[in-house]
Amino acid sequence: MKNETIVILSSRELDKMRKAGRLAAELLHHLEPMVKPGVSTLQLNDEAERWTQAHGAKSAPLGYHGFPKSICTSVNEVVCHGIPNAKQILKEGDIINIDVTLIVDGYHGDTSKTFFVGTPSPTAKKLVEVTHECLCRGIAEVKPGARIGNIGAAIQEYAESEGFSVVRDFVGHGVSNIFHTAPEIPHYGTRGKGKLLRAGMVFTIEPMINLGTWEVEVLSDKWTAVTRDRKLTAQFEHTLAVTENGVEILTMLDAES
Ligand code: MF3
Ligand code: CO
Ligand code: CO
Repeated sequence: MKNETIVILSSRELDKMRKAGRLAAELLHHLEPMVKPGVSTLQLNDEAERWTQAHGAKSAPLGYHGFPKSICTSVNEVVCHGIPNAKQILKEGDIINIDVTLIVDGYHGDTSKTFFVGTPSPTAKKLVEVTHECLCRGIAEVKPGARIGNIGAAIQEYAESEGFSVVRDFVGHGVSNIFHTAPEIPHYGTRGKGKLLRAGMVFTIEPMINLGTWEVEVLSDKWTAVTRDRKLTAQFEHTLAVTENGVEILTMLDAES
């Protein structure tokens, strides 16, 4: 990562992060009912872009290091950074991660969820449930004085205990007025290792959990990351702030748990 300094956000900046986080969560919630067989990933993208502009925000991915679309749509064996495409039509039994990042008043809200298209296979259902629980267990480690390694350790222990593997090539990241900054948050690791967390740090946790090997490959489009064995993968992401007492999830709606 270019910027090695971990910033501590002011309360004014945290307020902006709350607004961006909330709007990103609302966008995911808005897109969820569109996830049906027959819908293309480009339709999801175009609705996301329309909704984002209508709410006075900007899509952070669009043009980011040349990324061509507004959201990432990662279907089945796609680990992350799937590019929305008119020819990619969702079908019954698929799983799709939709990853949205909005810029509101200069600050970023970054969140993703994996959705079922119709009824999932028992395997897909288990993978997605375990991945969501991995995110929850990672978040539960966040408090001032804890170490970054505790987050990855909690995620890795649980994922591997369920027979799944943790992607290493992509990590959570600091996020503020910059999309990707320090610190890196690996989703594997060792308790007691890594930097100390402090109140006012803001970063994502975004575990990608694979059914088979943890190894990934990037396709010739230079973006789409797939599992090397082409088996299923799932991901959930929240943007979080370390508080004096623990953690505040900035990309969660009140109605969620
Ligand atoms: N939202 C992704 C993340 O969680 C990053 C997408 S970058 C893009 O970090 F360029 F692919 F959009
Ligand atoms: Co992220
Ligand atoms: Co994201």
